[in-house]
Amino acid sequence: MHPEPTPVYLDCDTGIDDALALGHLLASPRADLVGVGCVHGNIDVDAAVENTRRLVTLAGRGDIPVAPGASAPLVGEFAGGAPHVHGVDGIGGVRESLPSPTAVPVDGDAVDLLLRLSREHVGELQLLAIGPLTNLAHALDRDPGLVDRVAGVTVMGGAARVPGNVHPVAEANIWHDPEAAQVVVAAPWPVTLVPLDTTMEHTLDERHRQRLCDSASAYARACGEMLDRYLDFYGEVVLGRRAAALHDPLAAAVMLGEVNRVRSPRVPVEVDCSRGPGRGQTICDLRSQRRLVGDVDGANVRVVLETAPGYVDLLLDLLEQV
Ligand code: RIB
Ligand code: CA
Repeated sequence: MHPEPTPVYLDCDTGIDDALALGHLLASPRADLVGVGCVHGNIDVDAAVENTRRLVTLAGRGDIPVAPGASAPLVGEFAGGAPHVHGVDGIGGVRESLPSPTAVPVDGDAVDLLLRLSREHVGELQLLAIGPLTNLAHALDRDPGLVDRVAGVTVMGGAARVPGNVHPVAEANIWHDPEAAQVVVAAPWPVTLVPLDTTMEHTLDERHRQRLCDSASAYARACGEMLDRYLDFYGEVVLGRRAAALHDPLAAAVMLGEVNRVRSPRVPVEVDCSRGPGRGQTICDLRSQRRLVGDVDGANVRVVLETAPGYVDLLLDLLEQV
């Protein structure tokens, strides 16, 4: 007997792995996706909204509200996106093959949506942030009481003991708005950080992609198609083999408890907001881990350093059900 599904607010910069995370949430019996806020990052925010609205329409879930959020970080300008990774349209060139959105656009912005949902699901709403954290920072500024109404915050972002990706020590979601990330990790609410330390250990390769392309699910096929360019990028630039990391969907699975955390201490975390070479680094104080493998009193950020293997098979099963 499944427990009641958890109400989830997703904040994303719909890119290719964001689309995978969205599919995970739509198919998982543990999640009730009650709203999506979009943010600048992989692509400009308006394109992220269009991509997300087309994807929920493809899944027959045009009822899920999708709202536009921040078009730029707290400090500075929109960085221009990552067309070399996610394609010019943000989802591997498949946007125009997806159905046009059918639902009426929601009133207000992502922060309005997040705050409304936090009042409708007091004490139960889980936030999953898989893009820069600008919307969450704005929400905390507009209503600090948000911290008392949400059940938890899961962030795909950061790098604790491994190199960054967009910069030597910075991961993309943090890099694109370090000031917002610092606001989020410093706020008095339970944060689970899912960094590159573990997301880079879960990969999808060409045979997985072919299974998606051959699926009866139109959503799975669309994911298979958009993953072609993602595997090209990872093969040429990141891993030297055609296999892509499952950053965003893994964060969804960790949030829902569908992938076991193997090592995830709660420790002090600070984001480097300087203008130096360390900007965007998530400085996780793991010194305590030398003498104990546990939580640090007073720390509010759980850093997921290691998860159990095998997530890709769960993801493929779920995407075929969308
Ligand atoms: O560093 C990976 C993260 O940056 C993922 O969320 C990806 O979609 C990009 O936003
Ligand atoms: Ca993302």
